[in-house]
Amino acid sequence: MKRFAVLTGGGDAPGLNAVIRAVTKTAINVYGCELFGVLDGYDGFIAAGGVIPLDLSAVRGILPRGGTVLGTANRGNPFARKVVKDGKEVVIDVSDEIIAAINNLKMDAVIVIGGDGTLRIAMELCERGVPVIGVPKTIDNDVGGTEVTFGFDTALMIATETLDRLHTTAEAHHRVMVLELMGREAGFIALHSGVSGGADVIPIPEIPFKFESVVKKVRERVQRGSKFSLLAVSEGAKPLGGQEVYSRSGDAVYVPRLGGIGQEVGEYIEDQGFETRLTVLGHVQRGGTPTAFDRWLATRYGAAAVRTAAASRFGHMVALRDAKVIDIPLDEALATPKRVDVNGDAVIAARGIGISFGDN
Ligand code: F6P
Repeated sequence: MKRFAVLTGGGDAPGLNAVIRAVTKTAINVYGCELFGVLDGYDGFIAAGGVIPLDLSAVRGILPRGGTVLGTANRGNPFARKVVKDGKEVVIDVSDEIIAAINNLKMDAVIVIGGDGTLRIAMELCERGVPVIGVPKTIDNDVGGTEVTFGFDTALMIATETLDRLHTTAEAHHRVMVLELMGREAGFIALHSGVSGGADVIPIPEIPFKFESVVKKVRERVQRGSKFSLLAVSEGAKPLGGQEVYSRSGDAVYVPRLGGIGQEVGEYIEDQGFETRLTVLGHVQRGGTPTAFDRWLATRYGAAAVRTAAASRFGHMVALRDAKVIDIPLDEALATPKRVDVNGDAVIAARGIGISFGDN
């Protein structure tokens, strides 16, 4: 009987539980495997009680639930662990310990559900002999090699609904409403929800903006009789020649935390004489029940990950291409992070219907 482990790493995303459920059911029903869940990311392998058996009853009822029943960690990089030694904080490498634990547990496959960072760790572990299979997850949709990651559709739905709600207040009060959205260095959430929610200006990381151009759009709208404007600002957006705005800087363990560009844009607009309010949507975008699309994609990814593991195609990640779930080498997927194509049809369509990216 083969022994498979499944873990979730990095930020949570709606659909993680749907993957865990599909992995468990497929591994047991189709391949007769023994299945284990690893708690709180890679750390679970070396934590007391961090590896638990998973059976069909363990995954009952979790399909519509947000978060992850296995827990996750985005400071769980085995190659850079922050510990206190002799009263001082130091960063150590515990990857040998993790690899030894996986070997001791005689795992035939480790299915890793994560975003860019978690999958990069999976690739490094694979290079050192761990039989990993990747499943791409993130609301940001920035993992290469796949057309879409699960979690993105739910984030989009929440962001679009928020824009709809802000729209009514913007219109009622003749205000500018600025919504800052997640996405790190990729503008997909802002672009897709901005188009779907009728935003007038969508600053995204891939298209540096000019403050004056953003205000130009607001002013033009007022001159044409629309006394309000709606902005969907990606947290990674930056002014031409300027830098991203961080609410907290990073270190060896934590990545820098983006946040604050919405405030800067909003203040600039208000200083030009247009009453403005800011909403930072934050983790609302990652919480709660996944959309049908994310459940559907997550289930197909989970089942495909087990098939890939059963076929011993280790070092591979499942991916959506041309509406089919396939598997591709992790190094190919991670070679180039996915970004909005600034010359693609989505941006052209947005410009064509009068949306400004604040660049002219
Ligand atoms: O990668 C997902 C994401 O939600 C980003 O959009 C955001 O920048 C980041 O994670 C926030 O991370 P944390 O939950 O650690 O604050």
